[in-house]
Amino acid sequence: MPVDTPDWLASAQRAVRSAALGPRSEHRGRVEEIGDGVAMISGLRDVRLDEVLRFEGGQFGFARVLDPDLIGCVFIDAATKVESGDAVFGTGEVVSVPVGDALLGRIVDPLGRPLDGKAAIEVEERWPIERPAPSIIERDLVTEPVQTGILVMDTLFALGRGQRELIVGDHSTGKTTLATDAMIAQRDSDMICVYVAVGQKTSSVRRAVDALQAHGNFARCIVMVAGSASAPGLQWIAPYAGVTMAEYFRDRGGHALVVIDDLSKHAATHREIALLTRQSPGREAYPGDVFYIHARLLERAAKLSQERGGGSLTALPIAETDAGNLSAYIPTNLISITDGQIVLDTDLFHQGQKPAVDVGLSVSRVGGKTQAPVLREAAGTLRLDYAQFLELEVFTRFGGMPEGRVREQLKRGERIRAILRQPQNAPLRLADEVALLLAVQSGLLDPLSLDAVAAFRDKLPENLDRDAADAMRAISETGELDQEARAALMAAMNRLATQLGDAEPAT
Ligand SMILES: Nc1ncnc2c1ncn2[C@@H]1O[C@H](COP(=O)(O)OP(=O)(O)OP(=O)(O)O)[C@@H](O)[C@H]1O
Ligand SMILES: [Mg+2]
Repeated sequence: MPVDTPDWLASAQRAVRSAALGPRSEHRGRVEEIGDGVAMISGLRDVRLDEVLRFEGGQFGFARVLDPDLIGCVFIDAATKVESGDAVFGTGEVVSVPVGDALLGRIVDPLGRPLDGKAAIEVEERWPIERPAPSIIERDLVTEPVQTGILVMDTLFALGRGQRELIVGDHSTGKTTLATDAMIAQRDSDMICVYVAVGQKTSSVRRAVDALQAHGNFARCIVMVAGSASAPGLQWIAPYAGVTMAEYFRDRGGHALVVIDDLSKHAATHREIALLTRQSPGREAYPGDVFYIHARLLERAAKLSQERGGGSLTALPIAETDAGNLSAYIPTNLISITDGQIVLDTDLFHQGQKPAVDVGLSVSRVGGKTQAPVLREAAGTLRLDYAQFLELEVFTRFGGMPEGRVREQLKRGERIRAILRQPQNAPLRLADEVALLLAVQSGLLDPLSLDAVAAFRDKLPENLDRDAADAMRAISETGELDQEARAALMAAMNRLATQLGDAEPAT
């Protein structure tokens, strides 16, 4: 008597019948050696550079070195369970990260996995971490300013959209603070900010995130963290992944600012991987391609042409020096790759001159042309006056009481230095900066004591909002300073200066 075949059996039989039999090719290699965060693999002949490899235990890595008989693979996560002799498979894909608006306001690792304890990130697209830099015809000149809100940067070393500016200085000289302040200033602008922390202490990442959350517009920021305890592979891909996430906005005609904190640590990770995979060491034991890996990363920052949508990607990479030595290998490389550098100085920092920008060694090789015209006009001869003052100060340090013009120059210089100081997390608006420059250049601050100048600087924004609101609005809307606005600003500042002068008589 025929028996009805149950459904499950019928479907299993169908699956067996339709299964493709016959030979199937599979690329399979073998782990020969394991190092700290790396593995050497044999037998995978047709793997590409940066291809993701899958280990038999489910771990992942990517190919960094392709030698004829051995492949150097870097683990993406800590891979404690991989052993010599394990099987490895090529996946045919390169490392990619999620991109899109869903990343805004999130803290993620270099593969886009959330680190902030919130929901998984849902995106439609994944882009490879290595993408070609825009070619010459796809680019436009850097002409629009980035308002960093840091007076010394905006007046003396202006930053343009699409520019790459290195922040370089010794340990604990305010590098991270300078970069996060520039990100905080974008709370009123159309720029998206991406902060990439590579090899940083968790405590300093925490401080940066807290500052951004408390003072900036965190909903328009992405924070990517590969801390000092992360696998070398994760730290290695972080800057590329961060730039890819920022490029998503650039390629849609938007504007993005990416801070990479810092590339010295990234270079050290690169050296570690290179030595473990037995590449030949060169100067300071870095492998020969350390210049190239940073150049190809930073070349992706660009101002795109109108045909490509006119978007921009500005990069603020950070590098750490040792005892102020700018001619060490990595700082010189980065200085030659970027379009300028802001050098921070330990002595200035300890004297209380914060941000501790060394104006003699810092330079912006593009930004001057992009500076907002109103700022350039208000600054007038500030740069020259300040440079002359710094020279004079050295000469007169041991020489008794200077007279006449020299005395005036010293007095003015000290006041310029005082207004260039700025507390952290308090970026200035364009109109505040214009007003401060007007005040110092018109000689209004000359009769005040230095303490009174500091008080003037701190109280100015709120006073201007109250006493010269129309002028402030006009400057921020039109980007120009007409006679009427100038008069209103000067009147408000005169009042403030008189108040402070009475409270603390000039010395
Ligand atoms: N403009 C400023 N005003 C007051 N304090 C500041 C200013 N800039 C930095 N600091 C303080 O100086 C200290 C060091 O700053 P920061 O962490 O930014 O330096 P860093 O160069 O990034 O250090 P590291 O080498 O550890 O990365 C911090 O405690 C910070 O609060
Ligand atoms: Mg730092």
